[in-house]
Amino acid sequence: MHLGRKTLSKFLIENVSGSQDGAALAALLVDVAAAIKAIAALSGKGALGGATGSLETVNVQGETQKRLDVLSNTAFVNTFERGGLVAGVASEEMDDPFPIKPPHTRGPFLAIFDPLDGSSNIDSNVSVGSIFSILNAPESGEPQTADYLQPGLNQVAAGYALYGPATLLVLTVGKGTHVFTLDREVGNFILTSPNIQIPADTSEFAINTSNERFWEPPITRYVNECKAGKTGPRERDFNMRWIASMVAEVHRILMRGGIFMYPRDTKDVTKPGRLRLMYEANPMGFIVEQAGGRASTGRERIMEIVPSEIHQRVPVILGSRNEVDRLVRYHHECDAGTDTPYESPLFNERGLYRS
Ligand code: AHG
Ligand code: MN
Ligand code: MN
Repeated sequence: MHLGRKTLSKFLIENVSGSQDGAALAALLVDVAAAIKAIAALSGKGALGGATGSLETVNVQGETQKRLDVLSNTAFVNTFERGGLVAGVASEEMDDPFPIKPPHTRGPFLAIFDPLDGSSNIDSNVSVGSIFSILNAPESGEPQTADYLQPGLNQVAAGYALYGPATLLVLTVGKGTHVFTLDREVGNFILTSPNIQIPADTSEFAINTSNERFWEPPITRYVNECKAGKTGPRERDFNMRWIASMVAEVHRILMRGGIFMYPRDTKDVTKPGRLRLMYEANPMGFIVEQAGGRASTGRERIMEIVPSEIHQRVPVILGSRNEVDRLVRYHHECDAGTDTPYESPLFNERGLYRS
């Protein structure tokens, strides 16, 4: 039992609901938490809930949808539609934004979300999550696509749920990043890590190295330096992780530091990155910056990007402040032609593999 510990509702009453807009935002975040609890219950049943496996449908990203992608999307859409607190929603799983229409009432916000992140992991029972970003809606009228295309700096709230061994809700309303843990029996989210801070330094990096041959030089330089360990220019050993669930990756970084990279690559030149700006990079950027970390494309701060499309992709480098700053410097040096790519001693003049 957690009697006396701070629930999400108490946190929202104390930290968000001070003004009229704040009260509406607090109510909206209670709705978000309700959708998350429903998805946690469904995903937690695994194959017994009939929610595993793929469908035959393909989303706007060209990815085959999993059953849980669609069920999670419906959970969010139904919650927002009936909640009366948003004027429209946009999602990874819907081609276009969806305006709230009568008989439902429109509210003052726009909700943008990735209903299920890391969905390639569902059938292997590895952690997945949901990511959401809340913006102000236009003062009146049905929101148009252009109304959603606001830079991440405009977010009034953002967060994610992590459906792991425990279900967590990680939230920011621009006053720090806070972690809540779901008490499943009681159904309450309890504040378990208030004002979490990402360590500024780290010896742990996360990147899908199977794309290495498509990377830009600053990423290759950084990763090679990390892999060189104690005897390389970083003079310490690094560890590597890759879960293929951004939520799980970001959460590990929040808890113990680290750097996550899904950089621009040349695998498919029509895509400037793997991850989507509006419902992956921006909300995670807000969460990470509010926890003292950084989120960059390598060339610009993610939250300053003015979006051009709902499903726009961007390179993402986020996590421990000093490591992200180092990678930004490597990008600048590369663009200015002043970089010094790391050369492994195995391949240099006196090396084992000298050609
Ligand atoms: P989604 O399941 O919402 O499509 O997102 C998956 C993303 C992200 O969670 C993860 O970091 C990345 O895709 C995994 O990419 P790889 O398949 O290249 O590992
Ligand atoms: Mn995702
Ligand atoms: Mn998804």
